[in-house]
Amino acid sequence: MNRQAIDALLNKINDSATSEGNPRTKEIVNRIVRDLFCTIEELDVQPDEFWTALNYLGDAGKSGELGLLAAGLGFEHFLDLRLDEAEAKAGIEGGTPRTIEGPLYVTGAPVSDGHARLDDGTDPGQTLVMRGRVVGEDGKPLANALVEVWHANHLGNYSYFDKSQPAFNLRRSIRTDASGNYSFRSVVPVGYSVPPQGQTQLLLDQLGRHGHRPAHIHFFVSAPGFRKLTTQINIDGDPYLWDDFAFATRDGLVPAVKQAEGAQGKPYGVEGNFALIDFDFTLFKERDNLPGAEVERLRAEA
Ligand code: DHB
Ligand code: FE
Repeated sequence: MNRQAIDALLNKINDSATSEGNPRTKEIVNRIVRDLFCTIEELDVQPDEFWTALNYLGDAGKSGELGLLAAGLGFEHFLDLRLDEAEAKAGIEGGTPRTIEGPLYVTGAPVSDGHARLDDGTDPGQTLVMRGRVVGEDGKPLANALVEVWHANHLGNYSYFDKSQPAFNLRRSIRTDASGNYSFRSVVPVGYSVPPQGQTQLLLDQLGRHGHRPAHIHFFVSAPGFRKLTTQINIDGDPYLWDDFAFATRDGLVPAVKQAEGAQGKPYGVEGNFALIDFDFTLFKERDNLPGAEVERLRAEA
């Protein structure tokens, strides 16, 4: 089919509109349909291939894996890179890099002042203490900033999605103290893998790719008047550290994991050996003429 015939069909479709609709939606959908028509034409996509793809997306939706697909196909990282670019143009550079939220955040975690324990004492992983400050771009500490933290357990599973874990296990929100300090006690997570029998893995197999993420800890860091930071830190030494299926590892997000013991654990109620991570978060002031850093998306709520 030649280009003109494709364009004629696209025009016919566009001309079938009888009301204004939503101009932004129209522009985006028309463009995607056009790009897909061209893909089908150029790659000679056969009807059974088309229906396989459509059914695949339906199945991925039904099993709640579209968020995983967005991460695994690189869309979520791509959106990060575009936000980075918009910020760089507005003079925002440096600070704590952003990286993907992923599909496993749950709204409503318990809030603590200054310090929280995330685990319930049953996870066999090594005890972890992570601590630091939330500061503005001028380096001044931000009191009362909110550090929302969530991570997987020793099997790479997240509470809420893994019903065998207690509610909000390894999920908390921590308010920084008057000096901008936060700290939490938890266990060192291990890497996450997409469900091996799921739709995401099915596609990854076709692409010759794996579905593993290095061990990581997620954060939202926010304070009034500042751009919300969505980020993660990775656990150094993980075999997938720079081979993340979601492309979320970034320079600046791999802090040293120190081995600590004895009196160092006292302030956190920890006895014996534990892993210690020091990490500060830098927030940038909200500015006009920049896309918001607060992203609207459907999130689980418990
Ligand atoms: C996915 C899982 C994660 O834990 C994460 O941080 C990002 C993405 C996923 O399954 O796509
Ligand atoms: Fe994750």
